[in-house]
Amino acid sequence: MDDLRQKYLSAIAAAGDEDALEVLRLAAVGKKGEISLKMRELGRMSPEERRKVGPKLNALKDEINAALAAKKAALADAALEERLAGEWLDVTLPGRPRPQGSVHPISQVTEEIIAIFADLGFAVAEGPQIETDWYNFDALNIPPHHPARQEFDTFYMHRDAGDERAPHVLRTHTSPVQIRAMEKHGAPIRVIAPGRVYRSDYDQTHTPMFHQVEGLAIDRDISMANLKWVLEEFCRAFFEVDEVELRFRASHFPFTEPSAEVDLRCSWQGGQLKVGEGDDWMEILGSGMVHPKVLQAAGVDPDAWQGFAFGLGIDRLAMLKYGIPDLRAFFDSDLRWLRHYGFGALQVPSLHGGLSG
Ligand code: PHE
Repeated sequence: MDDLRQKYLSAIAAAGDEDALEVLRLAAVGKKGEISLKMRELGRMSPEERRKVGPKLNALKDEINAALAAKKAALADAALEERLAGEWLDVTLPGRPRPQGSVHPISQVTEEIIAIFADLGFAVAEGPQIETDWYNFDALNIPPHHPARQEFDTFYMHRDAGDERAPHVLRTHTSPVQIRAMEKHGAPIRVIAPGRVYRSDYDQTHTPMFHQVEGLAIDRDISMANLKWVLEEFCRAFFEVDEVELRFRASHFPFTEPSAEVDLRCSWQGGQLKVGEGDDWMEILGSGMVHPKVLQAAGVDPDAWQGFAFGLGIDRLAMLKYGIPDLRAFFDSDLRWLRHYGFGALQVPSLHGGLSG
């Protein structure tokens, strides 16, 4: 009996998991276990022998059962400890930073411009970047052999010989959206159209793709005075200064009559741009009263309606406002540049919250 006791108690102590423990339980006190078999032998013993051996066997069985239960509990505790150790989490550790993108200055400035014109009652309109030459030129009073077609350095879409489809271009300006918006909504109308435009040109201040915002306001009695006020309001809001001075220079565009290019008074003292003071003038946009032929092409009666249009360069405004010297860097996708000049995703421009965030 001592041998049995020794054997099982040490085996139980050494058991590594609950399965091993169960094997031991069956071997010792299961139906056919060694101790159960011994108990069955009691029946064949004399009464004295039975009185002597019985209690000892029972005590041994109890001891083994107790050892099994204790070991089982210990194994369960150890398993729980191990799980707790494995799943332990130090909530006091600092958060792991995730790589963060930034909002491109062009996107930011576009949102700023939209916020300002939305406040002035302009809705946003859009048009395709691949345009028919009718929308890009003809409808804007630029007939096929007009010199302005050459001035634009237009990208034409490839056409195979025998392909009779109308010529398509990468739009050279956002002005075709004037036509599309008037065709769709008629008059009166007040829209701006931000977007990409393309010209075959490349140097420090020109890239083959850049961005414009078109503005269009048509009603019964809209005049150049309204244009001037809208542009002044825009510049005040955009450059976040109280006083701006604009200079209207007579100019020529086929789609406006009269036409004006607009300059902004500024100073470049110490390489720092200040808007509204100084003796320099910076051209920021082209504008004018929409030509009657343009209204007509878009299905708006020029005897009943009139209004102004303007087109300004977004990239140019972004360079000026945020002191970015080279236009080409905008489109190099250099991560260091993007981190330096980019905006946080939560710096959403709004008139009440501050445009530049
Ligand atoms: N479309 C002209 C350009 O790209 C700008 C412009 C727009 C001028 C609207 C007058 C009216 O240069």
